[in-house]
Amino acid sequence: MDTCPKCSKVVLSDYKFCPKCGFSLTGQPPKSSSAKTAVGNSATSSISFFNIAQELSSSSNLDKLLSKISNAVESLLDADRSSVMFLDESGENLYFKAATGEDILKKLKVPLEKGIAGWIAKNRKSEIVNDPYNDERFSPKTDKKTGYLTKSIIGVPMIADKKLIGVAEAINKKNGEFTKQDLDTLTGFAGLAAVIITSTLSQTDQKNTFSNMMDFLVMGSEALGAPEPTPKGHSWNMARHISQIGEKLGLSGKSIQKIHRSALLHDIGFLGVENPKLVGINIDIDLTPENRYRLHPLIGGEMVKSIKMLKELKPFIVAHHRYRDGSGFPENISVDIITPEIGIVSILEYYYMVKDKDKLDPAKFSPQIFKAFSEII
Ligand SMILES: [Fe+2]
Ligand SMILES: [Fe+2]
Repeated sequence: MDTCPKCSKVVLSDYKFCPKCGFSLTGQPPKSSSAKTAVGNSATSSISFFNIAQELSSSSNLDKLLSKISNAVESLLDADRSSVMFLDESGENLYFKAATGEDILKKLKVPLEKGIAGWIAKNRKSEIVNDPYNDERFSPKTDKKTGYLTKSIIGVPMIADKKLIGVAEAINKKNGEFTKQDLDTLTGFAGLAAVIITSTLSQTDQKNTFSNMMDFLVMGSEALGAPEPTPKGHSWNMARHISQIGEKLGLSGKSIQKIHRSALLHDIGFLGVENPKLVGINIDIDLTPENRYRLHPLIGGEMVKSIKMLKELKPFIVAHHRYRDGSGFPENISVDIITPEIGIVSILEYYYMVKDKDKLDPAKFSPQIFKAFSEII
């Protein structure tokens, strides 16, 4: 556990931003090298995450959600099998709650004393085992019962409210070995599964999962190489200035947090423009690049609207290229929707596009926003 240097909130050590005040805990956007490795299939991870988050808002069918998670894990990790195991009431065995592959699995119990999954549960540690038959922790019992040959395993514990709920695993990477990046993806999905499974989560767990989900979505929209004249890492760059500007304007912590999230997700529409069917949006796929670009705020707004945790960000996303002097786009939205909070996101977006403070036209922004921005940047 660490503490946020700005508001002293206790935060988990892997947080990038303080969930209370939005302060960047790394002091900077992720380094391009790590962003790039994480980005590999992050656009796909983001869409799967997005779909599950959408489902989460509209359905309470636990089994359906868990099997969706299992399927997403399997395809993202290029694994042959995947499973979500729960801890039984005795606390001594795991049982399969969702699993792809043989039906017999659903009847099996896995004692915590045996096997890799048991080890993960007992030690509450993630693990990658790329040669299980040469690992003394591995138990071939399940293979014997199912007739399936396990060649590689990756698993993470699912923990909610400090309690172990179970283990999420993927088996047999189709090509090569499981990697650290696979582990990051699995961890994100296991966190989401934990939220789905228990409704009695502590605030910390919810925020941790929310922060993971935000990271996935931002990485996905950045991975697509947004056709804006902005560098990679630009959403993180924008978010970095929010607390300072917000504080200058005397905004509440809650408000700053909302603007911060909006800055991180403002370009999420690019993910939807590239994958309209997957995110459930109907657009003409033959649109010119310019028209696709002009649609990204509206599509982004539609995407977050369908997710309970994110829908309040819609006006920020829709209006992030719209200005008070009537310029910008989408032209058909009234400039009256541009509140001072929204103005913070749009001035930062504009600044990162022109990359020169002197090129900013004050008429586009409210005087107090322009002043606060000029004092900070
Ligand atoms: Fe944009
Ligand atoms: Fe942008």
